[in-house]
Amino acid sequence: MNVNTQKVIISKDLQAELTAAIEAVGPDRLFVLTDTTTLALCWPVVDKMACLAGAQMITIGASDEAKTLDSVSHVWSQLQSGGATRHSLLVNLGGGMVTDLGGFAASTFKRGIRFINLPTTLLAMVDASVGGKTGFNFGGLKNEIGVFNEAETVILSTLFLRTLDSHNILSGYAEMLKHGLISTPQHWKELLAFDVFDICHGKTGAAEGLDSNEGQPTDSKHDEALARLLAESVAVKERIVSEDPHEHGIRKALNLGHTIGHAFESLALAKGQPVLHGYAVAWGLLCELYLSTKLAGFPRERFYPTLQFIKENYGSMALDCREYDNLYELMTHDKKNVAGRINFTLLADIGEIRINQQVSKDDIFEALDFYREGV
Ligand code: GLY
Repeated sequence: MNVNTQKVIISKDLQAELTAAIEAVGPDRLFVLTDTTTLALCWPVVDKMACLAGAQMITIGASDEAKTLDSVSHVWSQLQSGGATRHSLLVNLGGGMVTDLGGFAASTFKRGIRFINLPTTLLAMVDASVGGKTGFNFGGLKNEIGVFNEAETVILSTLFLRTLDSHNILSGYAEMLKHGLISTPQHWKELLAFDVFDICHGKTGAAEGLDSNEGQPTDSKHDEALARLLAESVAVKERIVSEDPHEHGIRKALNLGHTIGHAFESLALAKGQPVLHGYAVAWGLLCELYLSTKLAGFPRERFYPTLQFIKENYGSMALDCREYDNLYELMTHDKKNVAGRINFTLLADIGEIRINQQVSKDDIFEALDFYREGV
């Protein structure tokens, strides 16, 4: 599957940008994919826009549990019964589940139709919707089936962030923090200094506080500050993806915090106490920065402020040392592993990335001890 040159727009005027993106494709038929949540909360932000008049709606279940082959099959069926051809266009309106699954369904329908991503969560804006990873969960494993294929255009509009609660904002912010850590000290500092809870300032829900005709937020000053940070964050991801679109090398930098983070996420799910992805990534960052400090020379004066930020904003998940073996076993399923060896991404400093680092079980357990005792 080819990777196109994806256009990522930090939105200033959603209606104008979406209109231009659709006109650039000039589709014979237009489809919009939502899940049940984004249909209720985010579709009202755009449904009066003339560029979407006559679009055929496709809706799937919300949450990661709906990221299944059955949902993909539903999207294919709706495209087929709606008369989609190779010249049709799918607009994915939702979080990472919708952009991943919709991207996959579009990439495979009639060997590929074009799609636009309109991410509605901070997590999807800074991560899932950009960079061409599409797919769905299969056989109990996350994102097990998928293809690399980029959207025609990705439009990042802070208007949708008003539909999110503070936990979901923080979840996306963890990926932004990761981008700070793998880029420059300047960006990292900006992220630690930003009042992340301020993102929710003035948030009143999708239908209120927004003028969907003009598509302008009520708190434009704050949205501008956030849009600037968002643009910097997404640029970090775009730069890395453009160097290594298929993750043979440097794209593994984007997995910082995810080796241990995914294990936390899976353990929490197995215990029936699911946590948001970004919270698990924040805790994973903490453990992997501990390992970076011990094994790769990451400076303590940069470790401690990051630790403090994570402690203050993300708290911690209760962990028992009897669960370490279980977490270790979960890490052995990480997609970055080669020949059964767990491969970490570590940092020698901010932006000094060390991929394919093998870490001993003892050191991993020591990082978990630090997490358990120190947070
Ligand atoms: N979420 C990591 C990546 O896109 O590579």
